[in-house]
Amino acid sequence: MALPFPDTPFFRGNYGPISMECDAPDLPVRGEIPRALRGSLYRNGPNPQFAPADPAAHHWFLGDGMVHAFHIAEGRVAYRNRWVRTPRWQAEHAAGRALFGGFGPPADPALRAVDSGVANTSVVWHAGRLLALEEAHRPFALDPVTLESLGYHDFGALKVPRFTAHPKRDPGTGELLFFAYGLGGPLGPGMAYGTVDAAGRLTRCDPFEAPYAAMVHDFLATRRHVLFPVLPLTASLDRAMRGGPAFAWDPAQRSRIGVLRRDAPIGTIRWFEGDPCYVFHVLNAWEAPGSEGEAILADVMQSAAAPLFPRADDPSAPPADSPARLTRWRFDLAGATDRFTATPLDDLAGEFPRLDERVAGLPNRVGFFAASTRASPGGAFDSIVRIAPATGQRALFTVPPGDAVSEPVFVPRGVAAPEGEGWLLVVVWRGAENRSDLVVLDAAAPEAGPLATAMLSHRVPHGFHGAWRPDPSAA
Ligand SMILES: [Fe+2]
Repeated sequence: MALPFPDTPFFRGNYGPISMECDAPDLPVRGEIPRALRGSLYRNGPNPQFAPADPAAHHWFLGDGMVHAFHIAEGRVAYRNRWVRTPRWQAEHAAGRALFGGFGPPADPALRAVDSGVANTSVVWHAGRLLALEEAHRPFALDPVTLESLGYHDFGALKVPRFTAHPKRDPGTGELLFFAYGLGGPLGPGMAYGTVDAAGRLTRCDPFEAPYAAMVHDFLATRRHVLFPVLPLTASLDRAMRGGPAFAWDPAQRSRIGVLRRDAPIGTIRWFEGDPCYVFHVLNAWEAPGSEGEAILADVMQSAAAPLFPRADDPSAPPADSPARLTRWRFDLAGATDRFTATPLDDLAGEFPRLDERVAGLPNRVGFFAASTRASPGGAFDSIVRIAPATGQRALFTVPPGDAVSEPVFVPRGVAAPEGEGWLLVVVWRGAENRSDLVVLDAAAPEAGPLATAMLSHRVPHGFHGAWRPDPSAA
């Protein structure tokens, strides 16, 4: 018999999992779904199958992945959700209870032979494959229509056992750029940089060493460079073996950013340095116009300290309440200094920045993110922000008190539409009704409110990231 879920923050409100998989072939829609909006939105997030054996060791990031698909065509929306049936999910399903614990290797030696991936962080559509991603394991393939689990995918030759949940597609070459961390042993400083071509074949995978072991959640890619932010959310097997946290905020370390020319050998990475900070997610990076490729600018969601994780010096203290704000980094490759600068761009507390990905790696005119404009239970976001970073001009769509928004996924109005013209797809939790909606906003004017709202009778738990797959027949 499956046990009840504990009353802890990672299971409270819309952080708690739902216990079913379902198909809703034709959702009720308020307003009009634009006819040109044709394709599938996929969203991924943690949805533990069973209550953890040790709630104190559980973290939001450790729940089994569940993918929610919204298939949109002819003004209609069909919905389907499925767990990602990883080996861990299958082992726990057979046992009827949770078997794995917190971060780090499982305590039970018998479980160390079972892959512990949860595939719960993001999804990417590349070279005809839908891949559920989680940074401590390889990509996991799903059927894009049925969401049937197809198994781990290695692009034909991937040798490293990990793959970031935030690969970057180069719109110019069609390549998928990726990195991995925690290689060469548990919680170690080994990393790798690699590329997958537009046809889905691995074309590069080079190992390198980070200045210290850390959780590296996202990275940056311009058209000519990649940048690896190694920030003081440190990883330590030694600390974990002594009963401390595997990952902890340690401001005694400096922020270190590795900069690599994409056409250069891995050994030429140059490490820049700055004050301690943390960045879960980046918006974009590009070579500064007129700099002959010698200056790189990057817009990131920067926190003064890592939220959600314990402090290295006092693991029993609560995690830092340190919201992320849009911040611009600058790297001068021709300068005599290895310091980079960080300049605040906006004062809203936000996360989950997204871009019109057709301009990824080039200067972007607009960006989008989720933000908090008022205190909400569990730190959920209440607004979708459209910002023009060059001017700071912004527009907000804010949901009523008690409701919460997901990351906004941008869909262009058409292949030739100007940057930022299209739609934002947002899943909104209706707190009072305890269910969710898919909301379609005009990306040029989100403040005008939904163009259309497709209504679910159940809720989509707070998750992480989504992706859009255009309808192949509409391309
Ligand atoms: Fe993420």
